[in-house]
Amino acid sequence: NTDIRESMYLVSEFAKTYFHNTLLNSEEGKAIGYSYFKERGFTNETIKKFGLGYSPEAWDAFTKEALGKGYKLEFLESTGLTIAREDKPFDRFKGRVMFPIQSMSGRVLGFGGRILTNDKKAAKYLNSPESDIYHKSKVLYGIYQAKQSIAKLDNCYLVEGYTDVVQFNQAGIENVVASSGTALTPDQIRLVNRLTKNITMLFDGDAAGLRASIRGIDLILEEGMNVKVCTFPDGEDPDSFAKKTSHDDLVYYLENNAKDFIQFKASILMNEAKNDPIKKADLIRDMVVSISKIPDRIQREIYIQECSRIMDISEQVLQSTLAQLVQKEA
Ligand code: CTP
Ligand code: MN
Ligand code: MN
Ligand code: MN
Ligand code: MN
Repeated sequence: NTDIRESMYLVSEFAKTYFHNTLLNSEEGKAIGYSYFKERGFTNETIKKFGLGYSPEAWDAFTKEALGKGYKLEFLESTGLTIAREDKPFDRFKGRVMFPIQSMSGRVLGFGGRILTNDKKAAKYLNSPESDIYHKSKVLYGIYQAKQSIAKLDNCYLVEGYTDVVQFNQAGIENVVASSGTALTPDQIRLVNRLTKNITMLFDGDAAGLRASIRGIDLILEEGMNVKVCTFPDGEDPDSFAKKTSHDDLVYYLENNAKDFIQFKASILMNEAKNDPIKKADLIRDMVVSISKIPDRIQREIYIQECSRIMDISEQVLQSTLAQLVQKEA
């Protein structure tokens, strides 16, 4: 229903403005939220660009303000900003710094809220629940701020987290979006496909990040897009790496460490399989599976040649494996 969605957009837009003003103008927001972002290296300009905010610790500070302005409890609840509790509804995001999640055209769809303590029992990030306006599998954090730069530079950096996006912008790299910790989906890839055919995945330098990039590769290839992967040193994510690196060094690092997917998979082999023939065989099969996802026949051919060269295995064997896979799909 369009009217319902329109009301949900309106209350979400109000929430973004409220959290942002609270961050910049309230005593609590300045002392807790603003100083947290400063600590992370974000300037006022960056905070404004992403509409970052702060949700007060009080039980229902936001909900009360919204109700007072005439927004209906119904929509506060359906957007997940307010959690129903019989007679005492309360703020979902209380005491968190806020990252508004916007559509390609700038509509506010939902929020991610980060906790400020190191309380291991509480979730580090809370996100808006699925709703009529927020489908997490269909959004990419930062796409609104990134779209022009992605189109202009004809490349999109894909990262895991909110802060990776913001920190890259802080470092002067704007063509970056985040899957926000969820496994990359075809809908998310198609959003990028409207702007460029080229994706460079930048995942956290840990086991989870590695797995995420491997899963993402085939999905991107299936959309007929080109994919590179750039990894970071162990324990670093794009945010932490960018924070301690100058703009020029960051650009240099990205350009020199981005590998096409064949080289990326080969480098995994160097690390994990070394001289184990069985593992090597598994990995080569895995590469051919990726190649089989590419819709364009000539591109498949080129990658088969590259794979043959890098892995030192005959093109013939690769071709026949590929033929079986492509046949299976047809
Ligand atoms: N995430 C989430 N819920 C969590 C943990 C993570 O939704 N409990 C999502 C967030 O979008 C987060 C992304 O997954 O940005 C990546 O997670 P992680 O690498 O753990 O967080 P960072 O973005 O690096 O956050 P920070 O630097 O603030 O620790
Ligand atoms: Mn819908
Ligand atoms: Mn991580
Ligand atoms: Mn991270
Ligand atoms: Mn991080």
